Amino acid sequence: MSYRTVHAPASVLLLAALATSAALAAPGAGDEAQARQIRQGEYLARAADCAACHSAPKGKPFAGGLPLASPIGAIYSSNITPDPDTGIGRYSLEDFDRAVRHGIGKDGSTLYPAMPYPSYAKVSPDDVQALYAYFMHGVQPVSQPNRKPDIRWPLSMRWPLAAWRKLFAPTPVAAVKDAAAADHDPIRRGRYLVEGLGHCGACHTPRGFALQEKALGGDNRAFLSGAVVDGFLAKNLRSDAGDGLGRWSEADIVALLRSGRNDHSAAFGGMADVVQHSTQHMTDADLAAIAAYLKSLAPVRAGTQAPVYDGTAHEALRTGTDRSNGALTYLNNCAACHRSSGKGYAQTFPALALSSTVHSADPTSLIHIVLRGGAMPATVSAPTRFTMPAFDERLSDQDVADVLTFVRASWGNHAPAVSASQVAKVRKAADAAPGPGH
Ligand code: HEC
Ligand code: HEC
Ligand code: HEC
Repeated sequence: MSYRTVHAPASVLLLAALATSAALAAPGAGDEAQARQIRQGEYLARAADCAACHSAPKGKPFAGGLPLASPIGAIYSSNITPDPDTGIGRYSLEDFDRAVRHGIGKDGSTLYPAMPYPSYAKVSPDDVQALYAYFMHGVQPVSQPNRKPDIRWPLSMRWPLAAWRKLFAPTPVAAVKDAAAADHDPIRRGRYLVEGLGHCGACHTPRGFALQEKALGGDNRAFLSGAVVDGFLAKNLRSDAGDGLGRWSEADIVALLRSGRNDHSAAFGGMADVVQHSTQHMTDADLAAIAAYLKSLAPVRAGTQAPVYDGTAHEALRTGTDRSNGALTYLNNCAACHRSSGKGYAQTFPALALSSTVHSADPTSLIHIVLRGGAMPATVSAPTRFTMPAFDERLSDQDVADVLTFVRASWGNHAPAVSASQVAKVRKAADAAPGPGH
């Protein structure tokens, strides 16, 4: 099956390393079937992006210790290397499954849902087994004790989490029926990858009163309808023509996930990491399945008109007839890359005209990227990290509001204006420098 292939050439070295560590770790492991299972486990660990949370930036792979913010204090990811004392070396397959799909630790207590087990509940038992084989035999053991959450008593008591889990996490058994036979039909395979392993909803689905995702499956229009995570809007991925993926082809989606960019747009914020560590490593068949599934999702709002390009703003910028602060700020700071037509340069500088990112009702991502700048992920298929400079020191809150309001109302775009107070809020939250004159 094509999704089991691993990418060369780094993979060749990895395979050799895996084969040796497997051979050392367990008798009879030189066996081709197990090597294949470990390889598949490695692929699945990438699709599930376990490293995003379990590898700290300067730490050893999968040794944990990465802080994850929660409203009651930071939670630290666990060491999931096969070290017997500080990692999961003594976990049986059943213990591992209970943690990954059920959200229950080895000592029986419930895990914080910062670990996305409500999504992983949909992972098939075969895939859990392959993941287990990889973590036991394909990952280097690292001795590093887990860090306790920075949460004070009584909020640190874990028993309320069990109630949360019973209310909001689906039971794996029921969900697995859906996953069976998902491999041959692209939309079913895509559903499995997006709702399950890829846990795309953990960022892209809005959360309810108890921080639970409002929906875990595509039939509900809240699923993947957009949510703010770590200072960026993880945008609407449903088929809306304005702020969703309605105007993207399946090939556009595949290109973004494979290379971090396409003819319209580029990944930034948390999505740049997802592309870098996870989706760029997936097979063509799996990326096509994800695209087919996303395109099958009904829009959040039915019947909205697709925006149509309008050349008025381009003409006004070219002839200098628009002297507003928004237009002048755009000409002086943005047009060199995004052009006065707003169309940018394909694969290099994203288009702002008719962009679904620009159309998002919530302007958080736009303000954030203008203040702090951005760099595309460097991927195997597109290694150049085109960057956008930060404008936090150069532009005031009012300038940023004016230029984004201009962008959101030009070239056929029609999204709500941005206010200086919205910019001030993001400037603070994103740790950006104070504006000019401070
Ligand atoms: C979005 C972040 C995130 C991702 C992605 C993630 N985890 Fe976790 N995981 C955590 C956090 C945080 C904890 C600790 C939770 C706690 O302490 O209650 C954890 C705990 C665990 C545990 C329990 C360890 C123990 O000490 O009992 C296991 C096993 C585990 N994760 C495996 C995985 C695997 C395998 C993957 C990929 C398939 C994965 N995780 C992906 C955040 C994540
Ligand atoms: C860690 C949080 C996170 C996860 C997990 C995540 N995303 Fe995203 N995603 C974002 C953010 C933030 C953005 C907005 C920035 C951008 O447009 O690149 C985004 C944007 C996107 C875009 C639009 C990109 C563009 O340039 O317009 C697509 C497509 C996408 N995500 C697909 C996915 C898929 C498919 C998954 C699951 C495999 C996924 N995302 C998982 C955070 C995440
Ligand atoms: C030097 C070239 C350059 C300049 C100048 C520049 N940008 Fe960008 N812009 C980029 C690049 C490159 C990206 C993609 C960054 C990434 O993916 O992290 C980008 C991304 C964006 C995005 C996200 C679009 C999407 O769909 O992914 C917006 C919005 C944006 N820029 C607005 C602006 C505004 C407004 C200005 C002027 C204040 C500006 N840019 C100036 C190069 C530039």
